[in-house]
Formats: sequence, C-alpha cells, structure tokens
Amino acid sequence: MKVFVTGAGGQLGSDLVRLLDGHEAITPDRSELDVTDSGSVAGAMLQTKPDLVINCAAFTDVDRAQTDADRAFSTNATAVRILAEAAREIGAHFTTISTELVFDGTKSGPYTETDSPSPVSVYGQSKAEGERHAGTDATIVRTSWLCGETGHNMVKTILNLLDKDEPLRFVDDQIGHPTFTADLAPIVLELSLQRRPGIFHATNQGAVSWFQFARAVAAAAGEDPTRVTPCSTAELRPVRPAARPANGVLDNAALRTVGFAQTRDFREPLAELICRLR
Ligand SMILES: NC(=O)c1ccc[n+]([C@@H]2O[C@H](COP(=O)([O-])OP(=O)(O)OC[C@H]3O[C@@H](n4cnc5c(N)ncnc54)[C@H](OP(=O)(O)O)[C@@H]3O)[C@@H](O)[C@H]2O)c1
Repeated sequence: MKVFVTGAGGQLGSDLVRLLDGHEAITPDRSELDVTDSGSVAGAMLQTKPDLVINCAAFTDVDRAQTDADRAFSTNATAVRILAEAAREIGAHFTTISTELVFDGTKSGPYTETDSPSPVSVYGQSKAEGERHAGTDATIVRTSWLCGETGHNMVKTILNLLDKDEPLRFVDDQIGHPTFTADLAPIVLELSLQRRPGIFHATNQGAVSWFQFARAVAAAAGEDPTRVTPCSTAELRPVRPAARPANGVLDNAALRTVGFAQTRDFREPLAELICRLR
C-alpha cells in the first residue's frame, strides 16, 4: 500500500509513520506541503498516487483558535475538503482525525457516534466543519486528550511541573479519556486499510478528570500524587479563552460494532510513555 500521511511530524502522525514498515510511506511535513494550498495538495496526490490518505495535520491550539479563527478554519475545515477531494479524484481512501470538542459536554453519559455535534469553541466548530467536509466515503476518527512521545501534551507538562516543584492544580469538573497515540495509530491505520466509511470514536479506556489524570501521571512517575490538588473550571486563573466541555467522554461503540478489541485502560500506555520519556 502507498500511504500518504499529512501532519507526519505531529504527535499522532509520527506514531503512525512508525507503523508504516512494509508500506510505501509519503510523509511530507508542513514545509514540504501546506495542506491549505489546494494546488500543491492536488499536485502532490497526482504525482504520488497513494492508495490511502491519512490526515493528521491540524491547528491544535484550542485557546489560540479563539482569536485566530481564520487559521483554525483553513487548517481544520477547508484543508480537509481539499484533501478529501484530491484523494477522491485519484481513487484513494481518505481518513481524517477529529475531536471530542465537537460536543458541548452537557450529555449525562458517554457520547456515541450518532450524537449531534454542538461545539462550544472555535476549534470545535472548525473540527465539526472538517468532519462535514470529509464526506460520507471518508473515515473520521474522533479521539480525545492525545498524548505521545513527540510534541506537546499534558503528560509532558505535568512531568515538567513535578520536576520543578511547581504547584499542580488541575480541574476536577472536566472529564474525558486520555488517549495515547501509540495505541491510537494502529486503529487509525487498520480502519484506513479496511476503507471503513463513517465516524469512529477511538480512545483509551478509563474516564477521569484532569485532576485525576494529573494524579495518575504523578503516581506513574513515582512522585507523590497528593502534590496535585483539585480546582473547578470557574476557579482557573487566568481564565482560558476557549470553553471546554465538562463531559468529553467518547464511547467507542462503532469500533466494537466492526469487531475491534476494546482499547487498554489509559494507565498502561501512560506507564509505557513515562518509561520512554524518563
Ligand atoms: N492533541 C489533542 O489532545 C487532540 C485531541 C483530540 C483530537 N485531536 C486531533 O488529532 C489530530 C492529531 O493531533 P496531534 O495532537 O497529533 O497534533 P499536533 O501534534 O499538533 O500535530 C499537528 C501537525 O499538523 C501540522 N500542520 C499544521 N498546519 C499545517 C498545514 N497548514 N499544512 C501541513 N501541516 C500542518 C503541524 O505542523 P507544525 O508543527 O509545523 O505546525 C503538526 O506537525 C488532529 O486532527 C487533532 O485535531 C488532538
């Protein structure tokens, strides 16, 4: 298989590229291919003719998106349309990644793939529009709270704070599924190889608040978890520009339906990541 991966230098993209042994991988970084440039995307597809296009590129700074909506929408929505159309043109299957932030968090239980998006931030709105642009023939993988070896994420932030003896206060009123790119990448690749159309929620298991997650990171790093203290979103200072859903828990219902095994509890890949980082 010839697999074209955008955003290959990001958290998920770099773990996906590691899985492509035995496939022909085309992995342009942002300096080689700007996914918002339709002419360059169409040219790259026609030149390389991949079987699969997997889009891991995104503008992922949720707070900055509030004041840079143009960049959020061009990268997270328009570029998805550009990539989907270019892939369709050459008969390649298209996969793109979305987020729990397409939901407003007011549901009392986990969100399933049939729940309607109702984003409360610019980032969430741009990703929801990206889902619509991907088309019904695409694979859309919604995930949450991504952590990997490459790039920035909350595990690295918490480890840094622990190292510096900084106070660790995390909100206890936003819950979600921490998800590790080492576990997510094989699911994204397998869904793409199977050319499965539709929306799939794919996360690790074990719903926690950010406070509980920070304590789990401290425990896994051999530090005292009680150094992490809870606060409410209303108490956070400075106030974060983008609203986050109180409930960002995604039920992986569609994956179960098509026969995927349940993913691991997040504490297992968390321990593995901390071993690799330390
Ligand atoms: N991070 C999370 O917690 C989270 C949660 C749920 C869903 N997701 C989704 O999961 C996917 C992967 O996220 P991630 O955490 O792996 O993201 P990431 O680490 O921020 O990587 C995104 C990549 O996209 C590249 N990129 C940005 N704009 C581009 C452009 N115009 N053209 C080409 N490449 C561009 C970035 O390059 P530069 O570094 O050069 O900017 C970076 O390599 C995204 O769709 C994201 O929305 C993420």
